[in-house]
Amino acid sequence: MKPLEGKVAIITGARRGIGRAEALTLASAGATVVVSDIVFDEEMKSLQDEVAAVGRKSLALECDVTKKEDIDNVVARTAEQFGRIDILVNNAQTGLTPVPWEELTDELFTQSYESGPLASFRFMQAVFPYMKAQGWGRIINTSSGASRGGVENFGHYAMAKGAISSLTYAAATDWGQYGITVNVIYPAILTPSLKSYLDSNPAARTAMEARVPVRYVGDPLDDLGPIVLFLAGDASGYLTGHPVFIDGGGGFGPR
Ligand SMILES: NC(=O)c1ccc[n+]([C@@H]2O[C@H](COP(=O)([O-])OP(=O)(O)OC[C@H]3O[C@@H](n4cnc5c(N)ncnc54)[C@H](O)[C@@H]3O)[C@@H](O)[C@H]2O)c1
Repeated sequence: MKPLEGKVAIITGARRGIGRAEALTLASAGATVVVSDIVFDEEMKSLQDEVAAVGRKSLALECDVTKKEDIDNVVARTAEQFGRIDILVNNAQTGLTPVPWEELTDELFTQSYESGPLASFRFMQAVFPYMKAQGWGRIINTSSGASRGGVENFGHYAMAKGAISSLTYAAATDWGQYGITVNVIYPAILTPSLKSYLDSNPAARTAMEARVPVRYVGDPLDDLGPIVLFLAGDASGYLTGHPVFIDGGGGFGPR
């Protein structure tokens, strides 16, 4: 029996990068996976096929996490079709345009906030009744090392990610009594978009790898997948309200 057999997982921003790796990881471990993304195209259909190929039931839905009605639709459709919700991975985030702090606009700030902490909060509240009734739930939120400073021109992104970490700790405090764990990951992962950038900028690759104690930037499936699987499964029941740095050691130091 696979570790997540019988579990139902929702993943946001699953079309590419980290979300896609998370979807494939959880499906390979036996979960039924509901993938969602603001972009709904051939890539999403191929993801659904890939999930099906590893033998699990899957559902692919269009969802802009800045829209409450889209979030409610994903949760309602998942419950209707599969009867339960066990795992939520809040992965999607927009607002990644770099801008100096003094030029930051209300619009960009709000976009980062709505797609980050507000969306994570709404999804968490929407799945809570199912997890509470089951006496079991796993919520994995997604922060960034940028929330701790040191990344220029991403103040809005840092704010959004810092707020996601804080709401993780707060929900973990309130929901542990129901068997629901809430943790937050800080990835530094070689997604296809980062890979193509580093492939054409060898100096940036060398500089980035030099900053990581393990001397490479992790692969979404090989390096992030197993840690997310641990956080999504039974084995991590005593771990809640924690930041998990999936970064080869690159992010440790003063918080
Ligand atoms: N890649 C890294 O090393 C890294 C580092 C720190 C944090 N993160 C975080 O990890 C998560 C995934 O990052 P990634 O590198 O895979 O990003 P990515 O840009 O490759 O993928 C993000 C996915 O989210 C979707 N998305 C964007 N806005 C959305 C919205 N409003 N509603 C629904 N879907 C939306 C996109 O269409 C895309 O499929 C993000 O939260 C990001 O901030 C990544």
